[in-house]
Amino acid sequence: MKKRVAILISGGGSNMVALARDMAGDHPARPVLVMANDPAAAGLARARDMGIDAAAVDHRPFRGDRAAFEAALMARLQEAAPDILCLAGFMRVLTEGFVARWQGRMLNIHPSLLPKYRGLDTHARALAAGDAEHGCTVHEVTPALDDGPILGQARVPVLPGDSPADLAARVLVEEHRLYPAVLRRFASGDRRPILTP
Ligand code: GRF
Repeated sequence: MKKRVAILISGGGSNMVALARDMAGDHPARPVLVMANDPAAAGLARARDMGIDAAAVDHRPFRGDRAAFEAALMARLQEAAPDILCLAGFMRVLTEGFVARWQGRMLNIHPSLLPKYRGLDTHARALAAGDAEHGCTVHEVTPALDDGPILGQARVPVLPGDSPADLAARVLVEEHRLYPAVLRRFASGDRRPILTP
């Protein structure tokens, strides 16, 4: 039986598309739901175009009440009954309670070589530090932000004259390769990390 995967997004959803496209082939999992915390997230329409159920739970009406927002998120998730949750450009920080319910079956992609540059603005920070290389990481989600066991990393060179946007674009190409590869392995029960040079 294929593993059921739900994908949480906040914006364009290019990682979501990469995951869903890979799952369209011979794969141990299939996408059952794409959810966004913003009804205007462009990724929702992209998911529907791929024939995937898509829904939004707008976080704003909850006015910072994260538990109430997550209860609404969980209600919609339970209808889809996913085995695995993939955070793909999902920009809300989840509570410990929510994370505990999905521990060991929730993944996230982060645009840096963790443990370097947890949080935001990773590309600008790597440039400001004068790093020679940068990249992205897929990890299991734990209560501490951007901190869980690493399941995959991909590296890119930092080139002279790079802007944060240049670097982001170079890293995004690797994200679209790494995340599907990690999910394919993870969904088959293999937690060995994929570390590309
Ligand atoms: C990606 O770089 C991801 O690593 C970060 O947000 C960006 C979102 O991209 N968390 P998309 O929405 O998947 O296109």
